[in-house]
Amino acid sequence: MSKLKIAIQKSGRLKDDSLALLKQCGISVDNGRDQLKVSANNFPLEIFFLRNSDIPQYIEDGVVDLGIVGENLLYEIDSELDVLRSLNFSKCRVSIAVPKNSKFTDIKDFEGKKIATSYPNTTQKFFKSNGVNTEVHAISGSVEIAPNIGLSDAICDIVSTGNTLFNNGLKELFVIMKSQAVLVKQPKPSREVNSLIEQLNFRIGAVLRAKTSKYILMNVPNANIQKVSALLPVLKSPTVLPLAEEGWSSLHSVIDEDDFWNVIDQLKEAGAEGILVAPIEKIIE
Ligand code: PRP
Repeated sequence: MSKLKIAIQKSGRLKDDSLALLKQCGISVDNGRDQLKVSANNFPLEIFFLRNSDIPQYIEDGVVDLGIVGENLLYEIDSELDVLRSLNFSKCRVSIAVPKNSKFTDIKDFEGKKIATSYPNTTQKFFKSNGVNTEVHAISGSVEIAPNIGLSDAICDIVSTGNTLFNNGLKELFVIMKSQAVLVKQPKPSREVNSLIEQLNFRIGAVLRAKTSKYILMNVPNANIQKVSALLPVLKSPTVLPLAEEGWSSLHSVIDEDDFWNVIDQLKEAGAEGILVAPIEKIIE
């Protein structure tokens, strides 16, 4: 029987969240320290821990079937791999930053300037598309230090919290792209492997959907059920159960976390009381 092979980061910002996602999909692994390959106990899956920058090539060659990488890496290498879905974690930006006292404000100020980066292609593409010629210095890490030691006038790097920029006396000037972790698939999986990819992708979908949704319960006077229901973008239609107190019902629904705060005042105005909001573990549709 075939096993699905998935590559995740050996170390770095995507690793823990990638493993956590697999766990939430009900996949259990015994991750021994320093092991580069582990097998799942309860799903035909092997996990390969690889260097981030090597993962796209392994997928391209079909050595592994799936991989979890940052969208920004795919952009950097002009990858044409199929992105199955965004995973809603490791969100960051790829940005141009300059020393905080720099007078640069306009992109044209960068003409002929030196930019240090671990993402030379992304940097080149950005300035080129804006008609600005720069000198790009590719370095593999600690990019934020480059302006302080006179290596460059600016940097292009990943920004997440912004702490690294702040701690190195830099400020973000332009955001080139927003990025997050994505699930990528090999170009020509066998039928058997493709069916396993679909199974795993289905589980991931259920987990991600649940993460951004909340279960919401409230007490509503019967006369207002229609009004309250109309405010809730629900999966199908809300569940309405009679309360012991006559004339009242308990209304249950699922709501997108982002919609919740927008709708809460309207729910109260429409007569909802005792509103409870609870996390959801999985949503199977
Ligand atoms: C990235 C990037 C910055 C840092 C930014 O490094 O190179 O150094 O994250 O994050 P922040 O805005 O939250 O401070 P990463 O930790 O991914 O490791 P790397 O140096 O190997 O790229």
